[in-house]
Amino acid sequence: MAVGTVYRQGWKLDEIRWHLFDAGAVDATMVAAVKAAALVESNAPDYVTYLKRVFGNSPPEALTWIERWGAEESQHGKALGRWAETADPGFKLDEAFARFRKGYQPAHFAGDGADSVRGSRRGEMIARCVVESGTSSYYAAMRDATDEPVLKEIAGRISADEFRHYKLFYETLHNQDEPDIGFLKKLWVAIGRVRESNDDELAYAYYCANVPMGQELARPYSRKLYSRLAAKTGMTIYRRRHIQKLVQMVAKAVGADPHGRLADWGEAILWRMMQKKAAAA
Ligand SMILES: [Fe+2]
Ligand SMILES: [Fe+2]
Repeated sequence: MAVGTVYRQGWKLDEIRWHLFDAGAVDATMVAAVKAAALVESNAPDYVTYLKRVFGNSPPEALTWIERWGAEESQHGKALGRWAETADPGFKLDEAFARFRKGYQPAHFAGDGADSVRGSRRGEMIARCVVESGTSSYYAAMRDATDEPVLKEIAGRISADEFRHYKLFYETLHNQDEPDIGFLKKLWVAIGRVRESNDDELAYAYYCANVPMGQELARPYSRKLYSRLAAKTGMTIYRRRHIQKLVQMVAKAVGADPHGRLADWGEAILWRMMQKKAAAA
């Protein structure tokens, strides 16, 4: 698997210029978004275990890219968590993550089967491309939306990592020795992965990150409510151009023209759905 071309180790936590932190430029909505993102990123080790099962028949050295990818995602969690702890000393990443992990365990992470829940390794890679398209554009939006210099740097570095991850999975998708899957199937996998953003992962991460443990009884978890609140927070960060980029990346992954009519429709539909969900919060 010729993934080395897109896989160069990125950056280290202590390379961030933490001393530039400007408390006056911190925005409460952005803090809520960063805390939730830190929890989702920190869940990478479970995904590494799952992906290694799916790619279990590959040569051992070919699995090292999964480890490297997972290590970078975990580092994203640490960087975002440290920033959030600096911006809000009441927030503790380890504590919030422990609650998130206890309450959120996707079935495919817990199993021991070697089959991808997407039906094939190619399907798995398309789903990964969707996620990396989403994260790359989200952190680009975060970088563009914040005036806080440390977060701007972190979000910029993470967005570049996520784009590289997309290229890694895109390349892996095309390097599989299993039969290709049809366009409609690819599109179905991609749409399915986008729809999964409505499941508990983002909503419960937002809840655990932003509702302190002591307030759980008074403010119990509701997927609908916290999914909407997470969407509302996201819409204060996203601009249309970020969604355009996201959809173009997904279109390329499924084999469609990133600048064609399907991508234009996809962008318009996704933007409208996101606006609607955010408005319902
Ligand atoms: Fe990440
Ligand atoms: Fe990533």
